[in-house]
Amino acid sequence: MAGAQAERSAGAGLTTTRAPFIEQAQAEGRLYISQPYELYTEANHEAWCRLFTRMGDRWSRYANPRFLQGIDNLCLDPHRVPRLEDVNRFLSPLTGFKAKPVSGYVPSFLFFDCLRNREFPTTITIRDGATLDYLPEPDIFHDIAGHVPMHTDRAFADTLVRFGDCAHTAAEIVAGIRDEPEQIRRITSIFKALARFFWFTIEFGLMRSPDGLKVYGSGLLSSHGEIAHAIDSPDVQRYPIQLEWVINQYFEIDHYQPLLFIVDSFDHLFDLVGQLERWMRAGRLNNVSAGEPQVSEPDLRSFLQASGAK
Ligand SMILES: [Fe+2]
Repeated sequence: MAGAQAERSAGAGLTTTRAPFIEQAQAEGRLYISQPYELYTEANHEAWCRLFTRMGDRWSRYANPRFLQGIDNLCLDPHRVPRLEDVNRFLSPLTGFKAKPVSGYVPSFLFFDCLRNREFPTTITIRDGATLDYLPEPDIFHDIAGHVPMHTDRAFADTLVRFGDCAHTAAEIVAGIRDEPEQIRRITSIFKALARFFWFTIEFGLMRSPDGLKVYGSGLLSSHGEIAHAIDSPDVQRYPIQLEWVINQYFEIDHYQPLLFIVDSFDHLFDLVGQLERWMRAGRLNNVSAGEPQVSEPDLRSFLQASGAK
């Protein structure tokens, strides 16, 4: 490690982008790792505590009731970064899901395949206490406090598994194409559709309720500012979800979302993923509109490898 970098990392514990343990795992090509709990510093626990406690009021006002129930079911300690083993002890008996520690970005086919096996790739680092509000990378607060409480709900958990099925269907479709440029073109389009659908539901979804709109998307549930903005701001467009719109709608990740989609229930969401898969099989995801998100090389390779392509 270079001198300046070593100095920067000293005492950083498991802070996002400054954790020597993670850098080493990445350098060695290890994606699935352990959670070396003893490496968390007091500053890391302090960051968790501040993030968690300031969300309490926001969650009770804006979050979907299933999420609130999930927070209770997981018995998360507001004062300490959670141990994944403890989280899993409460989570697994409910839906079979487990949080699985990873060292960084999981290429998309592998990510969806983990969901199919009821494993949720989970970041173990935590953001620096000086930048509580904005972080381009996921961290353990986003993954455990934003995503995992929803995984305690059976219909939601089953929906995630269906995303994994969709990724397998995509790989199967690509395996049936002989021409390599056409394979790449097809997987790029299907990937955009899947990623957009995931973004506008699992990450940023809204749901109707007798008390008005509630949040179930994890990107909103882990953001102190955006959770309120998503529901209250006149600057956000909120529309009933339509599959043909969502799969063609680009998104940007570096600012509050100007457009959000509403589902009626978790059963509705589950049915939509089924519809997405039927559309994929019928060729209706083969020519979605260009634009974000871009398909990275590892994403593309992960699908091609799964399809058995060389
Ligand atoms: Fe996320």
